[in-house]
Amino acid sequence: MYTSEQVNQLQDLTKKLLNNAVADFSEQMIAGLKEVLRFHEYRYYVLSEPVIADFEYDQLYLLLVKIEKAHPEWVTLDSPTQRVGNSLNQSFTTVAHLVPMLSLDNSYNAADLTDFDRKAKELSGMETLEYCVEPKFDGASISLIYENDLLVRATTRGDGVAGEDITQNVKQIRSIPLSAPFSAKGIQQIEIRGEIILSKKSFDNYNNKLIQQGLPPLANPRNAASGSLRMKDPKEVAARNLDAFLYHVSYYNLIGNNLGELGTHAGSLDLLWEMGFRSPKEEKVVVKGIEGVISYCINFEEKRDELPYEIDGMVVKVNALSLQEKLGMTSHHPRWAIAYKFKARQATTTLNSIEFQVGRTGAVTPVAKLTPVYLGGVTVSSISVHNEEYIRQKDLKIGDTVLIERAGDVIPQIVQAMPALRTGIEKNIEFPITCPVCGSTLFKEEEEAVWRCINIECEAQVVERIIHFVSKDAMDIKSFGEANVRKFYEMGWLKDIPGIYHLPFPQIAVLEGFGKKSVDNLTAAIEASKQQPLYRLIYALGIRFVGETTAKTLANAVHHLLDFTQKTAEDLLQLEDVGVKVAKSIQGFFRNPQNIEMLKQLEQIGLQLVNTKKETVEGGSLSGQSFLFTGTLTKFKRSEAEAKVEAQGGIILGGVSSKLNYLVVGEDAGSKLEKAKKINTIKIISEDAFLDLIG
Ligand code: IVH
Repeated sequence: MYTSEQVNQLQDLTKKLLNNAVADFSEQMIAGLKEVLRFHEYRYYVLSEPVIADFEYDQLYLLLVKIEKAHPEWVTLDSPTQRVGNSLNQSFTTVAHLVPMLSLDNSYNAADLTDFDRKAKELSGMETLEYCVEPKFDGASISLIYENDLLVRATTRGDGVAGEDITQNVKQIRSIPLSAPFSAKGIQQIEIRGEIILSKKSFDNYNNKLIQQGLPPLANPRNAASGSLRMKDPKEVAARNLDAFLYHVSYYNLIGNNLGELGTHAGSLDLLWEMGFRSPKEEKVVVKGIEGVISYCINFEEKRDELPYEIDGMVVKVNALSLQEKLGMTSHHPRWAIAYKFKARQATTTLNSIEFQVGRTGAVTPVAKLTPVYLGGVTVSSISVHNEEYIRQKDLKIGDTVLIERAGDVIPQIVQAMPALRTGIEKNIEFPITCPVCGSTLFKEEEEAVWRCINIECEAQVVERIIHFVSKDAMDIKSFGEANVRKFYEMGWLKDIPGIYHLPFPQIAVLEGFGKKSVDNLTAAIEASKQQPLYRLIYALGIRFVGETTAKTLANAVHHLLDFTQKTAEDLLQLEDVGVKVAKSIQGFFRNPQNIEMLKQLEQIGLQLVNTKKETVEGGSLSGQSFLFTGTLTKFKRSEAEAKVEAQGGIILGGVSSKLNYLVVGEDAGSKLEKAKKINTIKIISEDAFLDLIG
């Protein structure tokens, strides 16, 4: 990026500026100061090799701020001061990518790669292919557009065709230059792809902060990175220390001659590096033939943990762009590239004890308590071991050394015990016959694997039920949360669900950690929850097997919630998604006098037990039409989309069947889409088409 002569000049100027040896500031001098700041940002953020102290950088930066204040007419769009955003992001507008952002096909072993190579050779007519291999960064993908050397737009991947404009937030990432000298190469406009990542260190720092604030830590650097990009406050984005690797030029328009570097993928990585971007220039390798690719991938996997950031595999790309063009793409991925996914990470540790936890429905889940061990970005200290059967199958004993593994961001699992390491002091795991919380006898149904506490007044169940009731997808009582439920329960103020509406607020206001404002917020949120629609209440009751979709079906099937006390199993079986198991559970709930008493109390308190919505939507524009959403929706939340359908009289189904009219397909749709394709009458539509439909 900088020649040694330039480096010397910039260092000289740095010294002069720091020693106050520059007396007069002209517009030209200011340009030099900006150049100096950019150079030091590059040294620090791209090369990780700073050549001045942080304090010195700050001094130079403040100098620029001062001069720009006196001469606002000298402020340029790419001035280092222009990263700082003062205004909040109100919303993120959707913008189309210049070229669709595709995903990659996956491979997991040498055989998969050999297969990929065979097909690519066949299609390209080549005897051997040259590949460029580079790390697969585990972050959030972005697309950047530079026009006339200036960064004009940054977008999320979105549905691949269009994404959200996150320019202001991306400007907070110091390794992304606000301007780059593309015009020197004759490039007027260029679209670049890459990955926003969070280093392992920044991820830990951020999580430590969350923990200190009593908030739950984020699962992995990828979630942290993608969450950061959509934050309202750009200053908060800056505080997270995001980083970026740029690895693909998806479009450019050239004035003048052809550009040699852009003839190969490796050349484009070098060009990006030369333009001041952090591209995987050093991490990549160019090899002829798939054998070399395979060994590079395998060797790199061994070095994975030494890297300061997370990667989840390698990406293998046909190097010549002319061949890439020849190979083309499917609707989902290019035929000239493939991801090689690393194996799940494994570690060994000791199983110290088993804790039996009682859930909302009384299910008793054994949780293995382990000596904490670091495993692919997180420290693991407990793992669910599901049920008795599972423990027997894996032959787990207390005191065992166990092999654990974690694939991607999947929940860790115990792979196996290591009986060869037993010393004889290991103990069998005894499953309790009584509830570890309330002491009542546990039951197990014949066809089930779990033991259950059937005492619905069991403390553990009561607390879990209340936690579920207030949760986001249920009654959505903001600022209540799990910790408050537990606290109020311990204080004896909250014994059951109706108790939420009779909390002693004056006493809460004087609790440590509570102030007037938080109590006011809580009171308002509890009050607002009384207006939640019936389907939310049904879901919030936590009836076994009744998820959000079934709750909606149930709400639409009655006028008043207590009408369910009159419904026979046959009536219930008529409903969409309701099978024998679900019907039995619903009947069980409405036959229990304690539950009926609770519902009557809730009605008195002012909650909505009447289905008010049902009448209003009849005759809506979608009336009689059924919908199902699949894949990751990028333009709206699933719950919002479903609410829109229902507001216009449509219904939401729980699965693909011939009763379905529309399947709305988001990103990475899987089996539902495949199933729907086989039924001719189902209209398969994109998110955009859905938006058109609902107007
Ligand atoms: S190339 C058409 N290269 O992995 C080019 N992708 O699972 C497609 N990713 O959506 C992308 N590191 O977000 C490419 N070195 C790399 C990558 C990379 C990470 C991400 C990217 C993509 C996803 C596919």
